[in-house]
Amino acid sequence: MTDQVAHDQKNGSGPRSADDRRDPDTKARAALLYPDWRYIEQPALEDYRAADWALLNGQKPTYFADQQAKQALELLFASKDAPTYGYEINNYQHCLQSATMALRDGHDEETQVVALFHDIGFIVCPNSHGEFSAALLAPYISEANHWMLVRHAIFQQRHFNEYPDPVDRNECERWRGHPHFDWTGHFVEKYDQNAIQIGYDNAPIEVFEPMVHRLFAREPRRLAID
Ligand SMILES: [Fe+2]
Ligand SMILES: [Fe+2]
Repeated sequence: MTDQVAHDQKNGSGPRSADDRRDPDTKARAALLYPDWRYIEQPALEDYRAADWALLNGQKPTYFADQQAKQALELLFASKDAPTYGYEINNYQHCLQSATMALRDGHDEETQVVALFHDIGFIVCPNSHGEFSAALLAPYISEANHWMLVRHAIFQQRHFNEYPDPVDRNECERWRGHPHFDWTGHFVEKYDQNAIQIGYDNAPIEVFEPMVHRLFAREPRRLAID
């Protein structure tokens, strides 16, 4: 191998065969959750026949029971050691601190999990992160918590003293009188805008993990799309 070829391959440039361009992960089947499960060997959903759907739908509930909460937590853990752009704690620690504060104020399990996940999308989709966490948890939480998650960033603007840009601190006032207005304001004041404290004694994540599993094990609400 010449130095140039070695350099090109190392940097992902230069000529490569069609086979080389395939993601190595696509060359092997993904593992099944259980070795006695079976694959459906069809290239497109439109090729599935009744027996294929029966097999898939037979394995699906066990898969979700085992994996849904686990993978949701892994989304959170992905930012465990992430740097910050100025806050003294990162987004993972903020979420854990928020959940810990809700725990210590005696809120129920659902609200603790809501606090734990309320900013799960804060870095990857900052301008719609309320909708992100709301969508993740929607089938399993109350309408009050769902309403709060969607709008919490706008309520947070009430706490932006001397913010340099023209942010309307009173933007949330358009919802005053709504049944979930006070809860949203309370959550943001007590478990969000103040949950950026270095040295705060966060509860270990292990306290919340069983709660996350129990929440995702709830019978999901059917959500209307209009
Ligand atoms: Fe947020
Ligand atoms: Fe937050």
